[in-house]
Amino acid sequence: MARRKLIAGNWKMNGLRTGGLALAGDLATRLGLEAAAGFDMLVCPPATLVASVAEAVRGSAIAVGGQDCHAREKGAHTGDISAEMLRDAGASHVILGHSERRQDHGEDDATVRAKAEAALRAGLVAVVCVGETRAERDAGRAEAVVAAQIAGSLPAGADAGNTVVAYEPVWAIGTGLTPTAEQVQAMHAFIRAEVAKKVASAGALRILYGGSVKPSNAAELLGLPDVDGALVGGASLVADDFWAIAVTCR
Ligand code: PGA
Repeated sequence: MARRKLIAGNWKMNGLRTGGLALAGDLATRLGLEAAAGFDMLVCPPATLVASVAEAVRGSAIAVGGQDCHAREKGAHTGDISAEMLRDAGASHVILGHSERRQDHGEDDATVRAKAEAALRAGLVAVVCVGETRAERDAGRAEAVVAAQIAGSLPAGADAGNTVVAYEPVWAIGTGLTPTAEQVQAMHAFIRAEVAKKVASAGALRILYGGSVKPSNAAELLGLPDVDGALVGGASLVADDFWAIAVTCR
C-alpha cells in the first residue's frame, strides 16, 4: 500500500513571533519551489503561534498543527485549548500523547484517547504518540508497552484519513540516540498489526518515527518499509535541517 510520507515538525516550547514566522515562511517558500513534492509537511508551533503561522503559510502546502488539546469543546478549564479552537486558528492536525505530556502532565492512555476523540470531533487529524522508555525496552517489554498504548490511546472512529501514529521511543527523544533500523522497522510493523485490530484501513494509516531524527539518519529511517514519515523535534527548528530531512522523501 503506497503511503505518502509525512514530515512533521514538533517545535515544542520554542519559538517567538519573529523567528517562528521566519522559519515557517522559509519552509513554505522551499515547498512552493518544489515541483510535485513527494511528501506532506506539517509544522506544530507552540499554541501562541498557531494562528500566525497558519496565516504565514496560507496558500502553501504546509499544514499546521497544535501540540495538545483539551478533551472538551469549551468551558471552565483555565489555560487549556480545545480542538475546536485549534481548528479555528487554522490548524488541521494536533499532536496528542507526546511522552513529554504523558510524563510532565500525567496523561494516561484514557486521557490521550479522549483528546484524540476531541480532535476527530473538531475535524482535526490526531497524531497519537506512543513509545517505550529505556527501562521498558531493556526489560523486553517494548512491544507490550506500545501495544497497550495503541489499544488505549487510539480514538474511536480512527481511520487512515483522520489518525496518524507516531512511534517515539522515549529514550531516543532529544538524546541523539536512535534504535537500529531493524528495531524501528520491526516496531513499526508490529504497530501496524496492532492498529489493524482496531482500524480497517491500517494498511493506509501513516506511522511516523520520532526521536533524534536528523539529516544524517533520515534517509535510512525514512527508507524503511513501514516508516511513513518523521516527527522531528530539535532538527525541526532549523530550516536547513528540517528541509534536508524532508527531501530524503523526494
Ligand atoms: P527530537 O524530538 O527530534 O528532538 O528527538 C522528537 C519529538 O519529541 O517529537
